[in-house]
Amino acid sequence: MSDTLDYLDIEGGRNLSGTIRVSGAKNSCLPIMAASLLTAGTSYIENVPRLRDVFTLIKVLESLNARVDWTGSDSLKIDTIDVNRYEPDISLVRQMRASVLVLGPLVARFGYAVMPSPGGCSLGTRPVDMHFDGMQSLGAIIEPNHEATVIRTDNASKLHGETIRLGFPSVGATENIMMAASLAVGTTTIENAAKEPEILDLAEFLLSMGAIITGAGEDKITITGVSELHPSKHKVIPDRVEAATYMIACGITAGNIKLTNVRPDHMTATLEILSASGCRITTEPETISVDAPDVIRPVDIRTLPYPGFSTDVQPPFMAMMTKASGESIFVEKIFERRLLVANELVRMGAEVRVVENCALVNGGRRLRGCEVNAPDIRAAAALVIGGLWADGRTRIRGLNHLYRGYEDIVSKLRSLGAMVEEGAAPVNSISEASGA
Ligand code: UD1
Repeated sequence: MSDTLDYLDIEGGRNLSGTIRVSGAKNSCLPIMAASLLTAGTSYIENVPRLRDVFTLIKVLESLNARVDWTGSDSLKIDTIDVNRYEPDISLVRQMRASVLVLGPLVARFGYAVMPSPGGCSLGTRPVDMHFDGMQSLGAIIEPNHEATVIRTDNASKLHGETIRLGFPSVGATENIMMAASLAVGTTTIENAAKEPEILDLAEFLLSMGAIITGAGEDKITITGVSELHPSKHKVIPDRVEAATYMIACGITAGNIKLTNVRPDHMTATLEILSASGCRITTEPETISVDAPDVIRPVDIRTLPYPGFSTDVQPPFMAMMTKASGESIFVEKIFERRLLVANELVRMGAEVRVVENCALVNGGRRLRGCEVNAPDIRAAAALVIGGLWADGRTRIRGLNHLYRGYEDIVSKLRSLGAMVEEGAAPVNSISEASGA
């Protein structure tokens, strides 16, 4: 094992101020990139964030023999004409759960896919049963093997339309079924579908490819299959989770920031909670301004599928509530291990008690800088937020997670006045480095 690790040092206590442009949505970009596999030809995707999950999916597509090129700072050209492999590279799939999004397009176009068990964040058991069940309902045969599952149609025939009721409105399963059903024979209805803005964005891309879809963004989506789709061009929506992260960073530092390239209408639940905490929010169609008070009020948060409060924004809010004057309650309803960040916040001096899927945060005590380890993407963002307010220097390890989900986070934070430094140093050297 290496005795040095990448880290991020944050010197806490600066009020954030200034303007930043929010990047394109990671969670929209990934399914849209996968959807390009539904046809043979060149699709163009704009507003693509340069972050690790996007780089990983590029490699997944290349492992299937697609050609992917950056054509500008945030535009991708994806040529799928030579795709002739149906098993994404196992090491890539293990790095990122969203690799499973190539399943629907591969089975719909070629009648065959081999999916290794996916990996990604350590958010607890994250099965892909609904993805496989969805393919099965559309007529695919599922053959589990030791390390991978073969999903195929009989004699490479077409999938067929079906009514599918999801037991839970899974974002990824809704996306996979929607993509696969676009090339199926007949009509598919997805009931209890996920309603996230990223579903609607994927549907917009599929519609531009010639798909016939109604109801995306609602509980029931209807897809009438077509015999073929054509390549297309699409601009990805802004990243609502990234936007929320910077707003919360502003909230904890009593800052004053403006975000551009945002969709306030995708962020209603977050904006309500930020307002309840005492932040003054001003929105225009594509900008949000946040003016945060010195003293913030505690809030209660219950994560839910969209339009409820996003589980991805819960850990950053937990960090912010360590500053609030009173007790906040967090109830996590989506991912069982999303409260793990509480352990690291406690190391920084926070008072957080976790009971099953609830966390009680008794705020008001200033965090103190120390060395912490990020267990997943959103926890990494939460630790950055804690570090921005903490007394002294916070050293965050586990940066791989942070860079999976946040484009240019160091330069964006610096442009808002934060003192942030990247580096590599021996494990546990924080005490000498910070004098803590
Ligand atoms: C997507 C987002 C992720 C977000 C999550 C919930 C992407 C790339 N990622 O993840 O950032 O936190 O939505 O908003 O878009 N489940 C099953 N079986 C399945 C599928 C899901 O049991 O086959 C469970 C999961 O374990 C979890 C819940 O359903 O408890 C929600 O998962 P899902 O909506 O599928 O999340 P993802 O699409 O993986």
